[in-house]
Amino acid sequence: MTAPLPTPTTTRRPPTGEELAFVSARRVGRLATADAAGEPAVVPICYAVIDVDGSPLVVSALDEKPKRVADADLARVRHIRARPEVALTVDDYTEDWSRLAFVHLRGRARVVAPEAAAHAPAVAALQAKYPQYAAMAIETRPIVAIGDLTATGWRADAGAAARAGGTDLDATIRGRRSVRAFQARPVPRATIEAAIAAAGWAPSPHGRQPWRFAVVEAPARRTALAAAMAATWEEQLELDGQAAEIVQIRLAKSRQRLHNAPLLIVPCLYLADLDSYPDPARQAAEETMAVQSLGAAIQNLLLTVYAAGLDAGWMCAPLFCPEVVRDALGLDAALVPHALLPVGYAAKDPVRRDRLPPASLIVSWE
Ligand SMILES: Cc1cc2nc3c(=O)[nH]c(=O)nc-3n(C[C@H](O)[C@H](O)[C@H](O)COP(=O)(O)O)c2cc1C
Repeated sequence: MTAPLPTPTTTRRPPTGEELAFVSARRVGRLATADAAGEPAVVPICYAVIDVDGSPLVVSALDEKPKRVADADLARVRHIRARPEVALTVDDYTEDWSRLAFVHLRGRARVVAPEAAAHAPAVAALQAKYPQYAAMAIETRPIVAIGDLTATGWRADAGAAARAGGTDLDATIRGRRSVRAFQARPVPRATIEAAIAAAGWAPSPHGRQPWRFAVVEAPARRTALAAAMAATWEEQLELDGQAAEIVQIRLAKSRQRLHNAPLLIVPCLYLADLDSYPDPARQAAEETMAVQSLGAAIQNLLLTVYAAGLDAGWMCAPLFCPEVVRDALGLDAALVPHALLPVGYAAKDPVRRDRLPPASLIVSWE
């Protein structure tokens, strides 16, 4: 017999990081509005989720898909002007009902003119999410923005949905890219929390999760970290015999990368909970397992950030000066900084490297 479907929660509360990541990762939602007399209407919309002063905002363009009426006469625009309360449902449907899921948002909508402050970040987020907008003049047209969000969410089987990603897992894996230049726009705290939660689900030796994450957001902290690492790097580059002006150019570039990213995550190895062995070979294998697991945790984090509509990079610099990074951030002596992940909204699309054909990755299959 089929198990009864769980009922959705009815308590209204702000959306969780996971719910925002779910909404961000989908391509289409259904927006419900009503006119002054309460006559309802529902339209499918393309949308993006942006962060404005620490609060999520769902934004949608009044774009140039063929429509019969002018922007101001669109039912959704008339309705929002008469009555700003709206609802947006984003859902997954498959014939496998153990993978059904939805997030239902309610909020207050407004029509944002091109000169308003929220307009430019909304356009950038929509263009980043939908390549089709590159060829449409959405920057000169009003945007619908929904704020004051509350949410209810539901999934039939959290385990199954998570395994399936509830989304196109392959597209997320292939879409993730290393970004090295970011907009100044701040990063939603909920996305970082969801990404670190996802890192926590990585496989790890003995299930001991031998890693921790330092989040570096305050500009003064980023500056201190950049300065501390630059001093060590300068010494190392000089040791390599690099010309002084090349050293200065490389240092300035690296400093700029850390200053310009709105937020940095420093993944650290944390070996204290692992097994100890009397012989060096097994001890080394234990530590290698921890490093392998740190890579898996970082990948979970990167995929979650990408699925939420943001991007991240990967800088290996802390590996060459872990004590310096630890001291600059005031971290516990048991933590070994291994990388630096700048996170934010991409300033431009990076050039991606081609991948080896999958067949050439398989060396034997008998
Ligand atoms: C362990 C590791 C260290 C890396 N270190 C750096 C780095 O210091 N600087 C950098 O720009 N990219 C770094 N990268 C990113 C790679 O250059 C990038 O993943 C690769 O070029 C493939 O591009 P993609 O991530 O866009 O697919 C690193 C990646 C890994 C896995």
